[in-house]
Amino acid sequence: LAPTTWSAAEMGVPDEGGGPAVMAGHGDMPGRSVDSLRLPPDGPADVDVTLIARAAGARYTLNGQTPGPEIRATAGQVVRVRLVNQDVARGVTLHWHGMDVPNGDDGVAGVTQDSVLPGGEFVYRFRVDDVGTYWYHSHQVADEQVRGGLFGSFVVLPPGPAAPDATALVHLFDGRRTVNGVPGELAVPAAPGSVVRVRLTNTDDGPMRAWSAAPYRVLAVDGTDVRGPTPVAGAAVQVTAGGRVDLEVTAPARVELGGAAVVVGGGGPSSSPPAAVLDLLSYGTPTPRDRTGLGFEPSTPTRVFDYAIGRRPGFVDGVPGLYWTINGGMYPDVPMFMVREGDVVRMRISNSSGEVHPMHLHGHHAVVLARDGVPATGSPWWVDSLDVPDGSTFEVAFVADNPGVWMDHCHNLAHPKQGLVAHLMYE
Ligand code: C2O
Ligand code: CU
Repeated sequence: LAPTTWSAAEMGVPDEGGGPAVMAGHGDMPGRSVDSLRLPPDGPADVDVTLIARAAGARYTLNGQTPGPEIRATAGQVVRVRLVNQDVARGVTLHWHGMDVPNGDDGVAGVTQDSVLPGGEFVYRFRVDDVGTYWYHSHQVADEQVRGGLFGSFVVLPPGPAAPDATALVHLFDGRRTVNGVPGELAVPAAPGSVVRVRLTNTDDGPMRAWSAAPYRVLAVDGTDVRGPTPVAGAAVQVTAGGRVDLEVTAPARVELGGAAVVVGGGGPSSSPPAAVLDLLSYGTPTPRDRTGLGFEPSTPTRVFDYAIGRRPGFVDGVPGLYWTINGGMYPDVPMFMVREGDVVRMRISNSSGEVHPMHLHGHHAVVLARDGVPATGSPWWVDSLDVPDGSTFEVAFVADNPGVWMDHCHNLAHPKQGLVAHLMYE
């Protein structure tokens, strides 16, 4: 397999396969081509899925359904997904959002692979190490394809007997915010008094708030346990675009009219949102997350980066407008954030652009250390997707433990093609 080259194509712009190669990818790193970091695609798998992508008007299907089928695996298992593009004209890929897979499986058209054109296929094969709630979606013309339903839920369970759970995919269909396809809210069937884990995933472009009619606690954010105290009542939790929040909800002890149910509101008719919002910076108990044992001490970083989001006049596809900038430049006029494996990276993300941006870093999880200059002691809040409101500044830290070229972009999926893309690259 040829080393992958990095081209000017990015997630909002179709990769036509022959775009200008701006620089050689890390095919130049000795022994570190994108493909050398992968498991061989043809080896055995514990979970083996074929997903067939089709166009259906403005929507898309995977194996005939919108969104695609949920994938479930147990931590430690090897998953193989064969993506077949039947007739999606502009090509498709699959990105495993929040899963720290090897770079060659990251599914970014124009960066880690070419997009899969009609009649073609691509085989992803990786071991799932981290328990949690994730999702997958196309990373080719993602603003259209994710909106059109080219995504699905991906749950990694701990070994052993499974506790009761339910997945809730929040999505914007035809201008309406839906939960599992139904506008507004979700009723999870549950026996009276029983406890159920509700896995919320926000596939929409903006932040959403969730709460439940019954008391709940937050178990995990972006796949990492936060082990929050019980119960929360009268407060909502914010779910970043692209982010996931797992709630533990206790069903009411009495069977109410209509049967026992847990209602998770997204703005539906039967419950109105609590005014208060949980502050995840100070909620829960810290979980150490150092997969490699490289030694993660955020107070002594070996790299420090500034990621300042702004806005200025510019052109996209010849169309003038006010577009997004990172440190003053619109992608691709943005320098790479260069790291070495083992680096402890601190990044200051600030936003003075006038709008919120849900920032998503591929292949890594970062711990939020401070917001607007206020530090957290022992933050429990690990993210792969983080809402950065206008006027705010976050300090995050992560360990560079996953070699490759990784996107760090806004998950309001119209924004990447309007400039809001950067890359983290290993030397
Ligand atoms: Cu969920 Cu680069 O995206
Ligand atoms: Cu944005």
